[in-house]
Amino acid sequence: MTTRIVGVIGGSGLYEMDGLVDRGEHRVSTTFGDPSDVVIAGTLGETRLLFLPRHGRGHRIPPHRINYRANLLALKQLGAEQVISISAVGSMQEDIHPGDVVLVDQFIDRTRSRPTTYFDDDGVVAHVEFADPIDAALQDALYRAALEVGVRARRGGTYVCIEGPQFSTRAESDLYRSWGTTVIGMTNLPEARLAREAELPYATVALVTDYDCWRREEAAVSVDAVLAVLKKNVGTAQAMLRAVASKIPDPAQSPATNAMRHALITPPSHISA
Ligand code: ADE
Repeated sequence: MTTRIVGVIGGSGLYEMDGLVDRGEHRVSTTFGDPSDVVIAGTLGETRLLFLPRHGRGHRIPPHRINYRANLLALKQLGAEQVISISAVGSMQEDIHPGDVVLVDQFIDRTRSRPTTYFDDDGVVAHVEFADPIDAALQDALYRAALEVGVRARRGGTYVCIEGPQFSTRAESDLYRSWGTTVIGMTNLPEARLAREAELPYATVALVTDYDCWRREEAAVSVDAVLAVLKKNVGTAQAMLRAVASKIPDPAQSPATNAMRHALITPPSHISA
C-alpha cells in the first residue's frame, strides 16, 4: 500500500496524540521565508502526517502576520501531497452549535493585508481556477471520519474569512449572516488560495467555538469562550485525524494536483528566460 503524506495545519498540541509513531521534527525554510514553527511528523497506519502549528507553538503569531506562503511551501517541500486545515470558527447559523464540525466548501474574502499568491513580482502572471476551493474527495473522507467519530458534522457551508485580529462588530456579523455564511474565521482563505497554487488538494475542518456576536441572547464572542471550547475540541480533531488516516484519497485524482497547468498566462519563453 502507498504511504500518503498529509500536511495538517492547526493548533499546537494537535500532534500530541496517541498512536503516532516514527515521530520527527523538521526545521524548514523556504524562498518565501520561514513557516510558523518546526513541522512535527508522525505516522498513523499508512499515512504520514506533517503537523504545522499555524500560529506557532504558544500561539505567538496573529492571523494577519502568519507567513501563509512559507507554511504551505514548507509542507510541500517536506513531501505533503494534500493539506487538512483544522481551525476554530464562530457559527453564523442558529442550528450550528459550539462543538460542531463544519466541512466548508466555499469562502468569502474579507482580508486586507495578506500576500496570497506565489506569483507576485517576478514577471510571471498566473490566474488559477478557484471556483471550488475545497477538495471534494478529501472533504468526503473527513465527513466519513466525522461520522465514525460521532461528532455532529455538517458537510458544506461558506466560511467568511475576516482580517482580524479583532472579532467582528455586530453590524458586520449581521451583514455576513445576510450573505448566507455558515462560519466565520480569520485564517483559512489565504491557505486555500496558496494550497491551490502549490497544487495541494486542501480541505477545512472548522471546529465551532462560539456564535460570534450576532446572537443577541448570547454573550459576544471572547477569547476566553473560544479557548474553553477549543480545549474540548482538540480531542475531536485528534479523533477525526485518527479516523481519516485510513481514508486519505489518491491525490493524483484531484483537480488541484494539476491546477497550474492552465493557470500561467506569461509566455513560456519569458518564464525560462
Ligand atoms: N475564531 C473562532 N471564533 C471566531 C469568530 N467569532 N470570529 C472570527 N474568528 C473566530
